[in-house]
Amino acid sequence: MTSITVRRSQFTAQNSQARHYVTGRSPLMAHLLTALSVTFPAGEQFFVHSVRNVRAQVSDDTLQKQISAFIGQEAMHSQAHAQFNAVLDAPDYLLNQFNVQMSEGMTVLKTRSLRRQLAATVAYEHFTALIAAYLLKHPQLWQGLDNNLQHLWLWHAVEELEHKSVAFDVYQHVFGVDKQGSLAQRRRSMRTVSMGFVLGLSTMTSQLLWQDRQQSLKSVKQWLLLLQDGAALALMVARLLPEYLAFYKPNFHPNQRNHQALLAEWKGKLGLV
Ligand SMILES: [Fe+2]
Ligand SMILES: [Fe+2]
Repeated sequence: MTSITVRRSQFTAQNSQARHYVTGRSPLMAHLLTALSVTFPAGEQFFVHSVRNVRAQVSDDTLQKQISAFIGQEAMHSQAHAQFNAVLDAPDYLLNQFNVQMSEGMTVLKTRSLRRQLAATVAYEHFTALIAAYLLKHPQLWQGLDNNLQHLWLWHAVEELEHKSVAFDVYQHVFGVDKQGSLAQRRRSMRTVSMGFVLGLSTMTSQLLWQDRQQSLKSVKQWLLLLQDGAALALMVARLLPEYLAFYKPNFHPNQRNHQALLAEWKGKLGLV
């Protein structure tokens, strides 16, 4: 079993933070990561909310401990990304506007059944684990991140992998008694979340790119680098597709993918204990 440790981020929000912080690549990578970062404060607060909703129904002590660690980690992530987003928000780079839209979306989601709320979290957690593992396995994608930002993005990636099965296990524990019903809900929620996540992230990334067009799209060289990064992202989607689809199998479990070696490698490199 993977140990789940709550750690403070070694990342420090700096007012001088550059908007194109993945140096050596097109600005697309930074806009995409920033769009992802915008989803975290409200999104991860919702994940915690959906697990807390049913926590009293969890009778397993080990799972209770994992829930505490999951809540601790997500709270830290939410806080660190809110700080990161705040320093990048600007009149010509409207991050806070997306944050408000995310919060409104989560408020609507909170009116749904407890099972549906948790199934949405389970689906989102599958996405975060997929992306986290991909980032750790393909450092060339973020090679230009400075140490401070590596401590934000890679710390978050490591912890997403550490707690990747918690929401799923809580869902199975509380709602898995009705096997067919819980599976059907999990699949339905994944379809809805997939559409929302992909559409939302692409829209936010495109809008950020457009808001920053005077810096991001000013030369032919930048357009060419942008196409190159677009191709790298398309390759990422194609490579992740089988793992994404595995979620729909009746016997799926997040731990079917073993990330122990990857975690050990990156915890070592980042000095995370
Ligand atoms: Fe997180
Ligand atoms: Fe998470």
